[in-house]
Amino acid sequence: MRVLLFTGKGGVGKTTTAAATAARSAARGHKVLVLSTDPAHSLADALGVPLTSEPTEVDGGLYAMQVDTQAAFERSWHEVQAYLRALLSRAGVDPVQAEELSVLPGAEEVLALLELRAQADSGRWDLVVVDCAPTGETLRLLALPEALQWYVDKVFPVHRRALRAVRPLLQRGSPAPVPADGALAAAERLHRQLSEVRALLTSPTTSVRLVLTPEAVVVAEARRTLTSLALYGYRVDGLVANRVFPAPASAADEPFLAGWAAAQAEQMAAVRRDAGELPVRTQAYRASEPVGLAALSELGELLYGDEDPAAPAPEADELLTLTRDGEAFVLSLWLPLARREDLDLARSGDDLVLTLGGHRRLLALPAVLRRCRVAGAGLEQGRLQVRFLPDPVKWPSALAGAGQEPG
Ligand SMILES: Nc1ncnc2c1ncn2[C@@H]1O[C@H](COP(=O)(O)OP(=O)(O)OP(=O)(O)O)[C@@H](O)[C@H]1O
Ligand SMILES: [Mg+2]
Repeated sequence: MRVLLFTGKGGVGKTTTAAATAARSAARGHKVLVLSTDPAHSLADALGVPLTSEPTEVDGGLYAMQVDTQAAFERSWHEVQAYLRALLSRAGVDPVQAEELSVLPGAEEVLALLELRAQADSGRWDLVVVDCAPTGETLRLLALPEALQWYVDKVFPVHRRALRAVRPLLQRGSPAPVPADGALAAAERLHRQLSEVRALLTSPTTSVRLVLTPEAVVVAEARRTLTSLALYGYRVDGLVANRVFPAPASAADEPFLAGWAAAQAEQMAAVRRDAGELPVRTQAYRASEPVGLAALSELGELLYGDEDPAAPAPEADELLTLTRDGEAFVLSLWLPLARREDLDLARSGDDLVLTLGGHRRLLALPAVLRRCRVAGAGLEQGRLQVRFLPDPVKWPSALAGAGQEPG
């Protein structure tokens, strides 16, 4: 079973490419579901068929569905949110602020992924293709289980202790607004489910394909998205450059097209150079909107040729590795298309803090690195390499020199 997620900036062709990929894979004999988490019903528009929150057969072997994010939200998060809101206002927080604090950004889309997990687990599909909401949303959404982990680890134990203290007081006055234990149990259940979603999303059979158009603004955002995805531990197994203009036979006769083709070629060269090993597929700008199964199937065929769109991801390099280099240790993180100037690195206690275009990841250092200092960092061939040297203060044996192998 494979899961392919399509993401990218707004309007670049995510829905079209996801549907074309699904149609192509079904034509090759796979049982395929294409699932949209985007509340705008664009997957139905692209396929030209009405969709519901249950898989609908569109063609032999090809099914499509539209997740009802509102319903998923109501089911899972409502109770927790109501409780948080009540607790905050009871603690004297202004109701408007309480409302704001109890909102978890992107929660609806994340909950839509619970449906992805249910479908992936159903055993019905060889391939599940996900048409995600535009980049910003998706990134937040994908990172959210980590945020929630933090929340549960740090906040709920405190809440629980505080609750135990205030409960007698609450009971003496008006009753507690929501049974607190129920809400905590709901939050914990939700957390467990989201952890399972995250495990599915970061498993080796799941890949992300990033769609872009070869334009400077889009490419700049694609770089940030790609590195943030890598930062959060998602595997990107390819880029799709969409709406590529063909070069005209005569630039003098067709200056408009020639201008676009030249500008796009420049962007494509930069993308190809920085993508390294990552495959970059291209999709031509079609003469009309690729809407309906026939047009999408054709697009999928042109995009993948003889390739199986659902082929297992190539043995990707490990996302994070630790190797020895003389007396130094090298921590290496896969960060394709990242640029040095966008990256910031700091040490905070036993963590390495990586910041990249507004996204932050804490890497808990293994014991052996905690006793080292950062001796340098650089980006090479799509990987961030951080060199660590034994710190003579924390690791006196390193001073003893020859023959001392740190354990
Ligand atoms: N290769 C192409 N040639 C011509 N038109 C295309 C091509 N790819 C996509 N389109 C058209 O561009 C429009 C946007 O495509 P699509 O809906 O797939 O983008 P999206 O990234 O899913 O957008 P959103 O961010 O709104 O979800 C649609 O009208 C689609 O038919
Ligand atoms: Mg779309």
